[in-house]
Amino acid sequence: MSRSDLPQYTWAGRFSEPTSELVARYTASVAFDCRMWRQDIRASLAHATMLARQGIISQDDLADIERGMAQITREIEAGEFVWSVDLEDVHFNIEKRLTALVGDAGKRLHTGRSRNDQVATDIRLYLREAIDAILALLARFQAALLELAEQEAATAMPGFTHLQVAQPVTFGHHLLAYFEMTRRDSERFAECRARTNRLPLGAAALAGTSYPIDRHLVAELLGFDEICANSLDAVADRDFAIEFCAAGSLLMMHLSRLAEELVLWMNPRFGFIRIADRFCTGSSIMPQKKNPDVPELARGKSGRVFGHLLALLTLMKGQPLAYNKDNQEDKEPLFDTVDTLTDTLRVFVELIPGITTEPANMRAALRQGYATATDLADYLTRRGLPFRDAHAVVGRAVRRAEELGVDLAQLPLAELQGFSPLIEDDVDRLLSIDGSLAARQHPGGTAPTQVLAAIDRARRTLAGALGPADG
Ligand code: ARG
Repeated sequence: MSRSDLPQYTWAGRFSEPTSELVARYTASVAFDCRMWRQDIRASLAHATMLARQGIISQDDLADIERGMAQITREIEAGEFVWSVDLEDVHFNIEKRLTALVGDAGKRLHTGRSRNDQVATDIRLYLREAIDAILALLARFQAALLELAEQEAATAMPGFTHLQVAQPVTFGHHLLAYFEMTRRDSERFAECRARTNRLPLGAAALAGTSYPIDRHLVAELLGFDEICANSLDAVADRDFAIEFCAAGSLLMMHLSRLAEELVLWMNPRFGFIRIADRFCTGSSIMPQKKNPDVPELARGKSGRVFGHLLALLTLMKGQPLAYNKDNQEDKEPLFDTVDTLTDTLRVFVELIPGITTEPANMRAALRQGYATATDLADYLTRRGLPFRDAHAVVGRAVRRAEELGVDLAQLPLAELQGFSPLIEDDVDRLLSIDGSLAARQHPGGTAPTQVLAAIDRARRTLAGALGPADG
């Protein structure tokens, strides 16, 4: 970013001295808001089109503005555009260049508009596109989850509570839990998009404008569903950005839990999965190490997104209506949230297909954990024993199995019958891991057939989001 010898602020008319270099740097946002240049130009063109149609500027002015903006677009794309800190932000930088290129028409562009409604419009356009990109990535992540879940629809693994082996589940079923979490994340982003997709332009600085503008035309040109209904609200609130960071925080929280599980599962003490080497790194000192850096970073990066949510809430809470310069601080947290979500999802889209399972280790953990104890209690209950008594009987059986160092299924039938005469030789089937899985035969249950049915339903909900190319 350059600083020209004398700042030439558009608003400098009533000032007797230029701002100091420190203040110029402190108040400037161009270093980060220049990423909204496409949105800024697009919104300006829609505004100019409306001004011309309403007879507020001439058709010649509009033609000049369009020509100038086309030139600026080329310059920015080619990396030739000179961004200046003295011109504060993306809006002034582009407007100044436009005026240099096309003269008075450039100066007429800002008729009936303020940077306050301009910036609010740019952010909404930017965020709308970012949400669409994130939704598309989320769908690809979910498709990868479903792919792996299908492969592992019948792979028995321990389900945990308190990180202690609880009951058998299938790995596919476990993965589908993340499909459901991220399905709600998608819903949240879609709802946030709907509230973001409203047009602030026309609010001008805060009170609206005395020109005969047509806000609905601008909304239509920019693809907004409706206009912001109140001019003060239009320029003052950034709740859509906060909402996005809240939805983003929930998504990161979900991805962080998955990341944590991947770290545990690939630890040799679990040994449930392997992650492709390209997602791991070694240690500079310990030659044997293979570290799960990628999931660890995903877990760690959730923290910065939660932080951005809190930053934006705090930014907003003390501001009197309408626009205050505080709002300029909305962009870095928002942009970093977009970047972090995008990168994290991209990484997961590639990482999920790189996961392979170790079914034998999962089964061994199930046996050691007496994961079918509840099945035995249910068996006794079906035979008339009150569940609480059944619970106590099975507790004693587990203690005995532990003494003998065997699994419940390995206790001799006679030994089991010593705990309850209700136990007969059909109990075997139940104490087997696959019998336990197959018994959970209802929607939302872990029986392999139910998992396959759930994958089928999930694929159908996903079909629209993926589009023909990825489908
Ligand atoms: N750079 C400013 C922002 O990001 C643009 C709006 C400034 N408006 C003003 N009156 N200072 O919010």
